[in-house]
Amino acid sequence: MVEPLSTTRGVLFRGSGSATPSRSISNAELGQRVQTSDEWIRSRTGIAARRVVNSDESLAELSGLAAERALEMAGWSADSIDLILLATSTPDDLFGSAPRLQARLGATNAAAFDLTAACSGFLFAVVTAAQYLRSGAMRRILVVGADQLSRWVNWDDRRSCVLFGDAAGAVVMEASENGQDDLDGFLLRSDGSRGEVLQLPQVSQRKPLVGDASHQCGGFDPIQMNGQEVYKFAVREVPAILEKLLAQHGVAADSLDWLLLHQANQRILDAVADRFSVPTKKVLSNLAHYGNTSAATIPVMLDEAVRSGSIQPGHRIASSGFGAGLSWGAALFRWSGPA
Ligand code: ACO
Repeated sequence: MVEPLSTTRGVLFRGSGSATPSRSISNAELGQRVQTSDEWIRSRTGIAARRVVNSDESLAELSGLAAERALEMAGWSADSIDLILLATSTPDDLFGSAPRLQARLGATNAAAFDLTAACSGFLFAVVTAAQYLRSGAMRRILVVGADQLSRWVNWDDRRSCVLFGDAAGAVVMEASENGQDDLDGFLLRSDGSRGEVLQLPQVSQRKPLVGDASHQCGGFDPIQMNGQEVYKFAVREVPAILEKLLAQHGVAADSLDWLLLHQANQRILDAVADRFSVPTKKVLSNLAHYGNTSAATIPVMLDEAVRSGSIQPGHRIASSGFGAGLSWGAALFRWSGPA
């Protein structure tokens, strides 16, 4: 049982971690499956390879590795965590994978639940965690963004299969009691009326149940995507929401240390950076190695930049996630680092 804190206002980002499957599939290898080429994929997306879970790997395992690394960076034991939020659209179990992650970590004092907002999921989860921390209801929260879209991609559809991969990333967040607050602000948006441009829809057959009653029986169809519409959505909405957030907080784009966007397509990253005149060296990108890993892209990129020393404590970061739903959001924060 968590005792509420009365003085808590601030949010701190204490540690990060990430994990990717061992098997990397290059563009050239994909060309053995669908009619495509390394040149086409690289020039249209910036992607050179993606990681794909094998039959022994699971979302819980990848998430567990990422979470353990984040806890280790913060120097926290798993039983000091009050809440686990797992942002994913591809759980191992539709009832939720967060409790399995909780058990795997031995986070015996944590409540755990899944949160689904596709590629915006990690950002939505960070903002959700911040509310628990600011209210004083929780002291320490683990937020994981993890997806294994390879299970749901149509590997014969060259228009979409070249984009996606699997990964998990994590951050651990803490309530600050000394007035320091490293989450400056956020904006979240959804527009279900445009959701058909990117879907992983349920399909079902009606089967007789009893008398005149029937029930639905089925599963899910692979990802269906209108790439051009998703592209237009991203290059319109991401700059707009970032612009609004920066203006709300009086932050000039040239004062940012890093732009940390959902890694969907290098052309989208470049278009957003151009709009704010942010130099390429401040735009974090690891798309070439992993492709679009949905809810995992932002925390995996964050973790790599923290571990390489690019992101330092105190650095100001503008982040934006966007994807199916449609959903999108932005957050302005500083990397706190371990206490
Ligand atoms: N290899 C070779 N040719 C291809 C491939 C491929 N992998 N895919 C499509 N083509 C062909 C098409 O068939 C088409 O040929 P045609 O004119 O003879 O019909 C031609 O290339 C152009 O196709 P477009 O779809 O117009 O290509 P476009 O330049 O729009 O690029 C892309 C496609 C890369 C998918 C782009 O639209 C994009 O990145 N969109 C955003 C997608 C995205 O980010 N989705 C994830 C969002 S996040 C989430 O929530 C999961």
